Amino acid sequence: MKKNKKDLLAFYRYDRHHPFAAMYPLLARQIVDDFDITGGRCLDIGTGGAPLLIELGKITDLELSGMDINPDALALAAENARFHGLPGDRLTFLQGDVHAMPLPDDYARLVVSRGSIPFWDDHAAAFREIFRVLQPGGLTFVGGGFSRYQSLEEANRMRPHWARKDNPEKRARWLHREFLEEALLQVPEADWRIIEDGYGTWVVMSKPASSARADGDRKGAFHAVP
Ligand SMILES: C[S@@+](CC[C@H](N)C(=O)[O-])C[C@H]1O[C@@H](n2cnc3c(N)ncnc32)[C@H](O)[C@@H]1O
Repeated sequence: MKKNKKDLLAFYRYDRHHPFAAMYPLLARQIVDDFDITGGRCLDIGTGGAPLLIELGKITDLELSGMDINPDALALAAENARFHGLPGDRLTFLQGDVHAMPLPDDYARLVVSRGSIPFWDDHAAAFREIFRVLQPGGLTFVGGGFSRYQSLEEANRMRPHWARKDNPEKRARWLHREFLEEALLQVPEADWRIIEDGYGTWVVMSKPASSARADGDRKGAFHAVP
């Protein structure tokens, strides 16, 4: 992300002027409706100014961890959380790289990540790390895009020009299902599926509660996600 400091601050400050301010509460609501995870630890990878984490915090009792590679983003994230009235004792912000997270195994019940995946270098390594920090029985919602609780017109207006499959740039390669599948196949222990719903592209991954589960159990691991 090549932006100067002033642009970065404008992008990471989460208030009503943020270009996606109308979307984050709807995406948070969608995640809670789909997964029904309202307690335990939620990790947001590439949290930026933590807008999604903040909105999840408002409607759940989740303990909230926001990780980003960029310390400037984390400083803004903490400010944003205070501005939105989230109590500091529910929040942890940490600097880290998705490819080698400074977190223990089985850390989070819910792992979310929105808009960070285009910037990752090695998606197989990233998914292996995400699987490692996911609790058995936990779920991920990792990808990019907007909420299906918006109108499609609004979501399309918000979508940056480069976030299209026909963009040959490296940061758009993850939008191709085959690219994601190849990376996810490097995590053979995981159950996963890819959602492409016209609003976004997301990877829902789960870690079996028991590593001894039979292959026939795979489909039962998910809550209803359209
Ligand atoms: C487009 S911003 C998205 C921020 C936020 N999730 C949102 O929805 O507004 C992408 C974020 O991913 C972070 N990021 C990029 N590469 C990363 C990596 N390897 N590990 C962790 N965070 C990373 C960037 O620093 C940036 O804050």
